[in-house]
Parts: sequence; structure tokens; C-alpha cells
Amino acid sequence: MDAIFNRRSIRRYKKQAVENDKIEKLLRAAMQAPSAANQQPWEFIVVQNKGGLERLAGISAYSKMVADAPLAIVLLGNEERMRLQVHWEQDMAAATQNILLEAVHLGLGGVWLGVAPMQDRMELISDLYGLKSKLRPFCVIPIGYPEEGQDHKFVDRYDPDRVHYEIY
Ligand SMILES: Cc1cc2nc3c(=O)[nH]c(=O)nc-3n(C[C@H](O)[C@H](O)[C@H](O)COP(=O)(O)O)c2cc1C
Repeated sequence: MDAIFNRRSIRRYKKQAVENDKIEKLLRAAMQAPSAANQQPWEFIVVQNKGGLERLAGISAYSKMVADAPLAIVLLGNEERMRLQVHWEQDMAAATQNILLEAVHLGLGGVWLGVAPMQDRMELISDLYGLKSKLRPFCVIPIGYPEEGQDHKFVDRYDPDRVHYEIY
């Protein structure tokens, strides 16, 4: 699948807005992810407002690009949907990767900005949106059309030394 091999973190974007039908496709991709006991703990905040994007950019020193993105999606885990709480981050990670791969397929690019399990970043997002404590911020994904020179391109990371057949 080309999207898996060519996907790269894209941190600079054209000003061009992301079309609503593409935003829905990104969210549909997220919700197709596998999850423990099919618990699907995810919820999403779609942010396109310039002020909202600028505020999100402040969650860490490594999130500044959000201010100049046309779109960001905040992924939340809802405790009320967690039958197997211990797996919530794995479920959310699968949804995150689906968004990043669908973005490549749609000609877009994004980057996974880590939030959970860092309490300070989780609290900043909870405060920003006034979230109830049952909602756990997991990550933020700024998304847009990649700026020139920010293309998705293959880097070969295959390392046969990491592969062990039958015995280690
Ligand atoms: C859990 C996680 C947290 C990350 N947090 C950040 C971040 O805060 N800021 C950032 O610019 N990139 C972040 N990244 C992106 C990684 O830096 C990137 O995936 C890695 O350098 C490999 O590059 P590639 O995505 O282009 O293949 C994160 C990735 C993961 C999986």
C-alpha cells in the first residue's frame, strides 16, 4: 500500500483549506480502526478556526506548526466507552495512524503530536475545551496540503537485523 511506504510527517502546509468531504473521509478512516473488544473509545474535535489553531499550537514546544495549519483534529478517548481501559491508548493510536494514512491517500499531509500520557499536555487540552474528566486527550494531528518541498517520500527503514525467525 503506497500510503504506508510514502507517508512522512508533514509540518508545513499550503494556506488552502481542507474540503469538508475530505475531513469526513479522515474521520471515517479513524473510526474504521481496530479496537479492544470493539470498544471504539474515540471522539474528535475538528478545529479550523485560526484562533483555535493558535491556542492548540501552545500545548508543547513541538506543536508550533498547528498555528499555520488549515485544520487540526484533536483525538479524545471517552472513558464511558472503555470496556477495557488498559487498551485505550492502543485503540487511539490505531485511529491516529488511519487518519495519517488516509491523509496521504487524499493528497494531504499531517503529523502526530503526542499528548497522552503526558499529564501537562492532557490538562492543557482539557482546559482549552473545558472537557469533562471522562474525556482523555490523546493526540493532535495538524493536517493540510503539503507545502512545496514537504512531499511524502519513501525512506527505506527495513532492517533485517530486527527480524527473528522462530528463535531469538
Ligand atoms: C507518539 C508520537 C508523538 C509524536 N510527537 C510529535 C511532536 O510532538 N511533534 C512533532 O513534530 N512530531 C511528533 N511526532 C512525529 C515523529 O517525530 C515522526 O513520526 C518521526 O520523526 C518519524 O518521521 P516520519 O513520520 O516522517 O516518518 C510524534 C510521533 C509519534 C508516534
